[in-house]
Amino acid sequence: MNAGTIEHPGILHKEDNCSSCHVDKTRGKSVHSAMEVPCTVCHLAQTQGDMTTLQLSLPKTEICFSCHEKTMMLRQHTQGGKKLCMDCHDAHSSNRRMLLLDPLNAGRHNSSLMLPPPQDTSSKTADRR
Ligand code: HEC
Ligand code: HEC
Ligand code: HEC
Ligand code: HEC
Repeated sequence: MNAGTIEHPGILHKEDNCSSCHVDKTRGKSVHSAMEVPCTVCHLAQTQGDMTTLQLSLPKTEICFSCHEKTMMLRQHTQGGKKLCMDCHDAHSSNRRMLLLDPLNAGRHNSSLMLPPPQDTSSKTADRR
């Protein structure tokens, strides 16, 4: 297996609808327009025997640029390209605007980002400490 290849828990078949199980990916305060394309544009699934493996169609450093231009504005807001888009945005959906990650869930990112406070304090994740 290549680096970045993961095993899907459960075999997938061509006709399986990813969203039938992963409903959360297409719901939230903001939902990525890219959810209108099949999940498999970004997630390549391969089933062999009794195992399905998944791989991103492009490396994490590139995958967002198949649709988003590398503009000056984007360079600035990724702090000169030092950060991955997914350090701040969910690729699918979010309970905040503009696909922004919930800072309470973003422990792995350890960034000094000045994100605005969550607006929806009644959201489930906001209570988790
Ligand atoms: C029959 C239900 C089902 C279907 C259909 C399904 N998944 Fe999953 N998937 C799961 C479950 C259960 C997990 C493990 C829990 C989780 O991460 O949500 C999972 C996990 C994943 C993961 C995380 C794996 C990891 O180890 O990090 C990815 C990525 C994923 N699925 C993508 C897909 C894609 C793409 C499709 C469509 C080609 C798909 N899934 C279809 C049930 C399903
Ligand atoms: C624009 C590209 C793109 C599309 C389209 C996309 N994904 Fe993803 N997905 C990603 C990336 C990138 C990651 C890895 C995120 C990370 O590691 O920070 C990911 C991770 C995941 C994961 C595991 C981590 C998590 O966030 O739970 C699941 C499950 C998943 N995707 C399911 C789906 C499903 C279901 C669809 C279709 C409804 C879909 N994805 C469509 C880019 C995409
Ligand atoms: C299949 C094409 C496609 C890919 C791949 C893609 N996007 Fe998008 N994205 C769009 C479209 C279309 C829009 C809506 C128009 C716009 O704002 O440019 C959008 C909008 C956004 C927005 C603004 C959302 C809002 O609510 O205003 C963010 C943030 C975003 N994308 C992040 C990402 C990230 C992060 C990745 C990589 C994981 C990515 N995009 C990959 C098509 C894509
Ligand atoms: C350091 C955190 C951070 C990183 C990294 C980041 N973003 Fe953002 N992004 C934000 C914030 C915060 C906003 C909301 C800005 C606002 O309030 O207008 C945003 C807004 C956006 C928007 C909508 C507004 C616009 O400029 O069109 C898009 C699209 C977007 N980001 C795409 C991306 C992509 C693609 C990447 C990776 C190349 C990326 N972002 C990386 C924090 C980040």
